[in-house]
Amino acid sequence: MNGSRLTVKLPLLPRLAVLGLLALTASGWSVAAGGAASSPAPTLGDALFPGLGQLGLDVQHYDVALSVDRPGTAELRGVVTLTLGSTRLLPTIRLDFTGPEVGAVRWNGQPVPFVVEAGAQKLTVTPPASLRPGETARLTVEYGGRAGTVTDPDLGLDLGWEGVLEAGTNYTLSEPHGAHSFLPSNDHPADTATFTTRLTVPAGFTAAASGVEDLIAEGAEARAGRHTFVFHQARPIPTYALGLHIGHLERVESPAVPVGPGGAPVVRRDYFPMGTPDRVRAAYRRTDEMLRALSGWFGPYPFAAYGVAVLPPQVDVPALETATLSTMPVESSNEQVALHELAHQWFGNAVPLRRWADVWLNEGFATYAELLWTEAQGGDGPAMVRRWYARLQSRGTRPLVAATQEELFDSTAYQRGALTLHALRLAVGDAAFRDFLHTYTARFSGGSSSNNAVDTADFLALVRERVGAAGEAAVRPWVFDVGLPPLPVGEK
Ligand code: TRP
Ligand code: ZN
Repeated sequence: MNGSRLTVKLPLLPRLAVLGLLALTASGWSVAAGGAASSPAPTLGDALFPGLGQLGLDVQHYDVALSVDRPGTAELRGVVTLTLGSTRLLPTIRLDFTGPEVGAVRWNGQPVPFVVEAGAQKLTVTPPASLRPGETARLTVEYGGRAGTVTDPDLGLDLGWEGVLEAGTNYTLSEPHGAHSFLPSNDHPADTATFTTRLTVPAGFTAAASGVEDLIAEGAEARAGRHTFVFHQARPIPTYALGLHIGHLERVESPAVPVGPGGAPVVRRDYFPMGTPDRVRAAYRRTDEMLRALSGWFGPYPFAAYGVAVLPPQVDVPALETATLSTMPVESSNEQVALHELAHQWFGNAVPLRRWADVWLNEGFATYAELLWTEAQGGDGPAMVRRWYARLQSRGTRPLVAATQEELFDSTAYQRGALTLHALRLAVGDAAFRDFLHTYTARFSGGSSSNNAVDTADFLALVRERVGAAGEAAVRPWVFDVGLPPLPVGEK
């Protein structure tokens, strides 16, 4: 809080009598200021991102309505309603937000006082009464202007809401903490939530988002000169995994694939910028086979839809596993990266992290999936394993749990994480390894409350439970040793 810039905001009321406004100022603002300044609500306490999130807050659902009048610019308007629950008494709600200017905040429909702390990237709201465990409330935030920025020093990227003016395109790229540049949120994967997303764009543009498109709702919302696209993300995901795309996009449908729970059909749709050449689209021709291969190893595909949204050719960023709709730059449009992002739908999106330090549980598993796919193609698996090992030898390595933000997406998270799983597999055999993976995804996915997230201790406990001492002995050096353990040897 110290040194942070406080911007005081009152609810944007309809042109009320000045006296009425002053009355609200006197009673409302002092409560908000006192509460926020003297004892800010504790954050989630993530060791690598100590400012993120609010302890005890459980956002169950985000109803997100965003309007973009000039695609490609940073301008947007939003009306977002969060359905809030809590696991402790919350006198204030302190969301992550560095987005456009907030005009109004409502609590169950009634205007309430709020404070924007630009430095802390927080929006603090004082409800009429504390939110109690077991209660739910609806918190609505209206905002408009230019999207905020969250710069990631490690990746050298501006995270969150992105735009490409020449292409008339906007998209989101939020991992790990960029979502609050456009979405007031509890911006941490330990608090996953469901989403309804309405994207309103000028006629002629197409919008896409994580989840299943709701054509019936769209029909009801059509207006002259604009089109609203509506999407339901019915299973909880982390905020960073919300994928949004606006542009001159072509939506390509393919036959559904029966790899959901109980063989449920998974809707298949991909989005390509108009004029995307065939060599780029070719990377995505085998998504159906990839879904079948990976669900065999990991268990049912966790969401109702899957596909990719390809970015315009001007954009040079890494690919990101946005839920149900991986975000793929042209440069990364190859089968290996496509497979990697698909694997994250299980590892990261359905099974969320409890804390960022354990990001190897995302990246190591998704990297390991590349080996499973290579083997299924009759490719040279051992060569891939040797390349991973050589990379760690040349770049250096560390224990799996990351100690700094800079370590989050390094080769230890990816290649050492993958080799940890390889060591486990070689120690216990394919059948037990497959059983372990199925149990892991089933046990740690699905809920919106924080006990469905996973950390390294959960991983080790499940290894012990499912495959016993031999498995645990094989993975422990990979998890804990400072140096690089010997290359695991075996058939694979
Ligand atoms: N999770 C991404 C992957 O598939 C890597 C990543 C981390 C990323 N943060 C990002 C990609 C931000 C794009 C933007 O490995
Ligand atoms: Zn990854």
